Amino acid sequence: MQPSTTASSAFDTSAHDTLRALQWLGDRLHLLDQRRLPFEEAWIDCHGSREIARAIRDLVVRGAPAIGIAAAWGVVLAAQRGDDLDDALATLRAARPTAVNLMWALDRMRVCIDAGMDGEALAREAQAIQAEDLAANRAMGAMGAALIQPGSGVLTHCNTGSLATSGFGTALGVIRAGYESGNIARVFAGETRPWLQGARLTMWELQRDGIPATLVADSAASHLMKSGKVQWVVVGADRIAANGDTANKIGTYQLAIAAKHHGVKFMVVAPSTTVDMATPSGDAIEIELRDPAELLGYAGRRTVADGAQAWNPVFDVTPHDLIDVLVTERAVITQPDAATVRAVFGMPDTH
Ligand code: MRU
Repeated sequence: MQPSTTASSAFDTSAHDTLRALQWLGDRLHLLDQRRLPFEEAWIDCHGSREIARAIRDLVVRGAPAIGIAAAWGVVLAAQRGDDLDDALATLRAARPTAVNLMWALDRMRVCIDAGMDGEALAREAQAIQAEDLAANRAMGAMGAALIQPGSGVLTHCNTGSLATSGFGTALGVIRAGYESGNIARVFAGETRPWLQGARLTMWELQRDGIPATLVADSAASHLMKSGKVQWVVVGADRIAANGDTANKIGTYQLAIAAKHHGVKFMVVAPSTTVDMATPSGDAIEIELRDPAELLGYAGRRTVADGAQAWNPVFDVTPHDLIDVLVTERAVITQPDAATVRAVFGMPDTH
């Protein structure tokens, strides 16, 4: 399954970390199609920036860091083909609105284009973005796992693993590292309605990598916390505002409220590429609304009475005062707020 022509660092794997879902093949991006997991491991090849934008929009590739990396490769493909780069950048940027990693990666590629880099140099930049993400994940895994008391149970939400990043994962990286160190003894994954990232992707990824996990309905989370089986909720992020407010998969906010009520600690794990100092607070984060059809049926089959309507926001914002710790590769920030985030990431941008 793993092609031999890709950069070796991307395949620097270990026993509990075997999956790489974005693979650059020199003239195309090879993507594990996340719409078809867990029962089909189908790969698709994207040959141009428009195909990559479509793959991001349609959730072939998803997860904040992964869509940033895919977009960077989209710019490389546009350059290789001699496409209009302004047009390619705009199309990729419009693919999804909430995860700032997408905009961050495109801004970084834009700087390179403006500096006159050719296709080969742009490819080296995209490769660097991908490799830096893997290194950040490994660092955050160790930092986050060290905060968890030996023998703990954790609950995670959505999919934040190798499918959602260049590899290893953010919150799932902490779970990988914590499982290896023994600090994490039990893993629970919420199913993550309506797209089932937890049920379809996280459970598959953990099972494949030999980390036992138990699936729970999203609506079982408070009951689980009350039972005493979990000491931490560990989640990723799509955009972290300058005051620490954090957008992540819909349902994260209610987990943070329930965790506070039950004395369960709440950890957000995200690379610095997810921190957006230009967004002052969560109120300014655009929340993606997706097709109500995702709620009104499953796998092409309608499950709700004809004529019924649905509202389908796919992210929510957890206020910073519900977050105990924010783990980035630069630092662990306890009680994130405007001051503690500024101490690590500098003054808010004002553009
Ligand atoms: O809609 P998705 O599946 O792209 O949403 C993904 C999430 O919300 C993840 O928690 C987040 O992107 C972090 S992934 C390391």
